Amino acid sequence: MQPNADGVSRVLVCGAGAMGSGIGAVFALAGYETTVQDIDEGMLGKAHEELRSRLDRNVEKGRMSPQQVEDAFSKLSFTTEIEEPARSADLVVEAIVEKLAVKRELFSRLDGAAPEHAILATNSSTIVSSRVADVTSRPDRVCNLHFFNPALVMECVEVVRNPETSDATVDTVVEVSRRIGKEPVILEREISGFVANRILGALTDEAVSLYESGVASFEDIDTACKKALGHPIGPFALMDLTGIDVNYYVRTARYEETGDESQKPKESIVERFERGEYGRKSGKGWYEYR
Ligand SMILES: NC(=O)c1ccc[n+]([C@@H]2O[C@H](COP(=O)([O-])OP(=O)(O)OC[C@H]3O[C@@H](n4cnc5c(N)ncnc54)[C@H](O)[C@@H]3O)[C@@H](O)[C@H]2O)c1
Repeated sequence: MQPNADGVSRVLVCGAGAMGSGIGAVFALAGYETTVQDIDEGMLGKAHEELRSRLDRNVEKGRMSPQQVEDAFSKLSFTTEIEEPARSADLVVEAIVEKLAVKRELFSRLDGAAPEHAILATNSSTIVSSRVADVTSRPDRVCNLHFFNPALVMECVEVVRNPETSDATVDTVVEVSRRIGKEPVILEREISGFVANRILGALTDEAVSLYESGVASFEDIDTACKKALGHPIGPFALMDLTGIDVNYYVRTARYEETGDESQKPKESIVERFERGEYGRKSGKGWYEYR
């Protein structure tokens, strides 16, 4: 049975962390019966609480009506069970910890429990779906559905097909993405980093190179990106927001994977990382925060 968007009404989101809770709320707000699953009961409680206060804030600010929020919560449930919600899911979005072995085990369990037509998507930013599709009996119904952080706010999703993903799967995921208010970008083949993060990586590299070679201060480079290019935030301020440690770890992993010297974290990043200046989370990165 081929999937199609009209046949998607029940969604299972695995993982209730930074991404999974937001993704669950996005589906519930769009009227889908949504279950958010996590192995950690505490994470589920935290996700529920945080969503409540975030959506209540949206009501206070007039962005949503109280009815919309109540309707969304009536569609949303939280559980540590996996097989039971998988059995009735039309679409699963996996947003669990970024560990391949753990994801593979989950995909195998999901494949055993979910109905034949169900699509199993991964929200992973770095693990392409072909690395989990091969443990399932339905690689044609597996793809990446990549949300951006915070999922409730960011309007874009990337739909990445693996060599076996069917057109019907891509069409369904694209249409469902539109129905939840997202603008889908389709990647016709797998590539590490996908589209948006590759472009951001190239921009960040160039910004850091310009700074390190003494062409301009990081503040002025941020100003150029904002005022000349119309970016909402400059690359240095953005690094502070996402974490200089994250940049360091991602680049170190990429260097170790490829052996490509150009992938190593840049000198000014290493210096800040070693001083514990991770950005907003540590109170200091490129900028200082109170
Ligand atoms: N954080 C981001 O900015 C971002 C953006 C886009 C995509 N992603 C991707 O989303 C995924 C999750 O990232 P995150 O930042 O939300 O992580 P997180 O650490 O905040 O949350 C991961 C959750 O997965 C749960 N978990 C671990 N093993 C599980 C299992 N077997 N079954 C069910 N739940 C399990 C953990 O208890 C935790 O609550 C990753 O694949 C990541 O690549 C992250």
